[in-house]
Amino acid sequence: MTSLPATVTAGPSDLPPNTCALPRTGQLAGLLTAIRDKQTARGDFIFYSDRIIRLLVEEGASEALSARPQTRRRTLAGGDLVADQSSPSLQTGLNHLPVVEKTVTTPTGLDYNGVSFEGRICGVSIMRAGEAMEAGLRECCRAVRIGKILIQRDEETAQAKLFYAKLPDDIQSRYCLLLDPMLATGGSAIKAVEVLIDHGVPQERIIFLNLVSCPEGLRAMYSAYPQVKVVTAWVDDGLDAHKYIVPGLGDFGDRYFTSN
Ligand code: URA
Repeated sequence: MTSLPATVTAGPSDLPPNTCALPRTGQLAGLLTAIRDKQTARGDFIFYSDRIIRLLVEEGASEALSARPQTRRRTLAGGDLVADQSSPSLQTGLNHLPVVEKTVTTPTGLDYNGVSFEGRICGVSIMRAGEAMEAGLRECCRAVRIGKILIQRDEETAQAKLFYAKLPDDIQSRYCLLLDPMLATGGSAIKAVEVLIDHGVPQERIIFLNLVSCPEGLRAMYSAYPQVKVVTAWVDDGLDAHKYIVPGLGDFGDRYFTSN
């Protein structure tokens, strides 16, 4: 068996403390290799992207749920949760969905002292590429409410500008999984966070999920909104002169949504 090359295992150091990168396993590296390959046809690009999205959502949803104030919650593994309630953070390492105790009666007539998931979350996709992540969220969280935000670059000011937002009415009482596959300069994502905050969502209840990020975008998000958690599948080297992530995978939205 060949061990993973250093290009795979050695991620960038000194990332902002609000960043949570998925473990660099062989599986994840293989999935990313498939979508980075410019020869990969659209059907395979969608298939492998969807698998990464699923991994990200499960990590992000667990962060959302594990960050809430704790009542009588236990981990699925049965151990008591021991997070510091005053400062919920990614560093608590709680990788199990928190649950509340629940007793049900089984068809045999006996009671089963089990657990039930709790939590109010919603997804918000940054159009169009973020919409690719909606199905993965729905697969993990049944009937989850999903909002949409359209942000584009204003040609006159070169600033990210909000064009459209449709968000759940009660968004201020939910944890918000913000969806956009690529975190490049951070301009759109930072604008999207501003929109969520304007709608009453505290920044510590926002978890931004992306497949590929770079240090520039991560640092920009941290300096604008240090309480926003960023869950990323992979941190790449940086940006090129056209603000594409390198080595990257090209334009995610084009590759996911446009037939070749
Ligand atoms: N958006 C993309 O789709 N790709 C990049 O590399 C940067 C932003």
